[in-house]
Amino acid sequence: MNNGRLTGIEACVFDAYGTLFDFNSAAQAASDELGNDGQRLSELWRQKQLQYTWLRGLAGRHADFWQVTGDALDYALSSLGLERPGLHARLLDLYLHLGCYRDVPATLQQLRARGMRLAILSNGTPTMLAAVVRNSGLDGLFDAVLSVEEVGVFKPHPAVYRLAPERLRLAPDAICFLSANAWDACCAKASGLRVLWCNRFAQAAERLPEPPDGEISDLAQLPAIVCPPPSP
Ligand code: LAC
Repeated sequence: MNNGRLTGIEACVFDAYGTLFDFNSAAQAASDELGNDGQRLSELWRQKQLQYTWLRGLAGRHADFWQVTGDALDYALSSLGLERPGLHARLLDLYLHLGCYRDVPATLQQLRARGMRLAILSNGTPTMLAAVVRNSGLDGLFDAVLSVEEVGVFKPHPAVYRLAPERLRLAPDAICFLSANAWDACCAKASGLRVLWCNRFAQAAERLPEPPDGEISDLAQLPAIVCPPPSP
């Protein structure tokens, strides 16, 4: 950061779930069936989903994020005694229709209007990511939607973060990566990207190597921080 700004940035690359798209919105949309268990289910579903990505990565047993998301949901429903006919299928379908956070559309439009290239870099499968982008009306805003399926391993494997500079044909330090997942932010930083942690959930900082370049509380703060290189 230079006076609180990140200079020389040509592209902003976003994590998807928790950063652009609200994973809690699936359980909220099924609140008629989940009642007071909705929040607990959503938290456990997300925790298990991430744990399974890390465990599968370490064990060398990759399966795509759709499979892992379904497995984690199975576990969470069983663990909370919520196994009811049709509920698993309903919640998984809702995961394809997650809403985006309120600050997302205007921020992306502002960045694009200033000539910033935009991309997503996510554990999600191409099908899952296309569905949530479409559902939130964000079609046409991204130059690239990059899925870990291109490298066959989940975050935080360094091969995932290398996809962004490779596919955008930019130097790693010309990219600002944004994630609300602090571990994702640290691991992207370790791979040479410039990084802002979007600390939407007011969490404590992770005790991991390579802290991000800065922290914001929502994406609306982003356009004032990232600056493109001076025109030649
Ligand atoms: C993703 C998860 C980590 O979108 O949120 O990659």
